[in-house]
Amino acid sequence: MALLWYSSDDDPEEWRPVFGRLAPDLELRPWHDGVRRDDVGAALVWLPPPGLLASFPNLKAVFSIAAGTDALLRDRTLPDVPVCRMMDPALKHGMAEYVLFQALKYHRRFDVHRDEQARRVWTWRRPLLPATSTIGVMGLGEIGGFVARSLAEYGFRVRGWSRSGGVVDKVETFKGADGLGPFLAELDMLVCLLPLTEATHNVLNADLFARLPEGARLIQVGRGPQLVVADLLAALQSGRLAHASLDVFPEEPLGEDSPLWAHPQIDITPHVASGTEPETAAAFVVENYRRLRDGRPLLGVVERTRGY
Ligand code: NDP
Ligand code: OXD
Repeated sequence: MALLWYSSDDDPEEWRPVFGRLAPDLELRPWHDGVRRDDVGAALVWLPPPGLLASFPNLKAVFSIAAGTDALLRDRTLPDVPVCRMMDPALKHGMAEYVLFQALKYHRRFDVHRDEQARRVWTWRRPLLPATSTIGVMGLGEIGGFVARSLAEYGFRVRGWSRSGGVVDKVETFKGADGLGPFLAELDMLVCLLPLTEATHNVLNADLFARLPEGARLIQVGRGPQLVVADLLAALQSGRLAHASLDVFPEEPLGEDSPLWAHPQIDITPHVASGTEPETAAAFVVENYRRLRDGRPLLGVVERTRGY
C-alpha cells in the first residue's frame, strides 16, 4: 500500500529519510502528473487541488499534514474515507511558544512602548506579575488545551471556552453560547484557537469585541475567515481593542494592498505560529498507516459533519 504525498508548501524529501528510519516498508509516493494510482491506499496532504484525491480509486484514508482540516473538507469531491488531522508535538509546542511570546508582549506593554518609541516618549512602568493578566483561549482541543495549560503554568490567569467545556488544569472553563459572555467579560487578551467550521466562521466580530473589556488585545492563530476584518479595524479605531496579533488571514498570502500591513495597532506574521515538523510528525503518520493496513481504528479522525 503506497502513501501518496502532496503539499503546495513542503518538500517530500524532508519526510523520506524519517519514514525510511521508522518504516522502511512504507512506500512514499510524491505526487506528479503520471503518478501510479491503483496501489495508493492513503494520502498525506496539505492543500491538494480539489478533485485530486478523488482520482485515486483505492484510497482508504486521508492524513492531513496540518492540524486544521477545513480546506480538505471543503473539497466536495473528497472520497468518503476517514480524514485524520495531524497530531504532532511540534505543532502544540510551537503554538504555545508563539502565544506566550505574544502574551508577554502585551502583558509587558511592549506594544505600548513601541508606539511610545515612535513618538520619542519615555514612560517607566513597573513590571507586573503574570497573574495580573487574564488570558482567554477559545478552543480547548489538542493544541488549544495545551496552550491554555502552558499559559497557566507560566503564571497567567487563564480562562478557556469550548463547545463542551471540560476540565483543563489551572484553567477556568466555560462552554457554549451561554458561557461566551461570562468568558469574555474579564479578559485582557483573547486567543483564538478554534477550528474553522460553519459555526466559527466570522466568530471574531463586533458583537464579540463589544463583550470584551475596553482595551483588550487579540491574538488570532485559528483560521483567517473567523475574523471580520472590518469589525477589527473599527474596534481598534474606537479603542474597544488596543492591539491585535494576526497570524492567519481570510486570503493567504495576505495581499500587498491590505490595510493590515501598515496598521500601527496590528502585528502580522505569515501563518507561522506553528507548523508540522516531519522529524516528530512522521511517527504519528506511520502509526496511522500501520493501523490502516492492519484494519485497526485510526487516530485523530475528524468528524466530517461537525467539521473538526
Ligand atoms: P481540536 O480539533 O483538537 O479542538 C477544537 C476545539 O475547539 C475543541 O475544544 C472544540 O470544543 C472547540 N470548538 C469547535 N467548534 C466550536 C464552537 N462552535 N464553539 C465552541 N468551541 C468550539 O483543534 P486544535 O486545538 O488541535 O487546533 C485548533 C485550530 O488551530 C486548528 O483547527 C487550526 O485551524 C489552528 N491551527 C493554526 C496553526 C497556525 O500556525 N496558525 C497551527 C495549527 C493549528 P469541543 O471539544 O467541546 O467540541
Ligand atoms: C495547521 C496549520 O492547521 O499549520 O496545522 O495551520
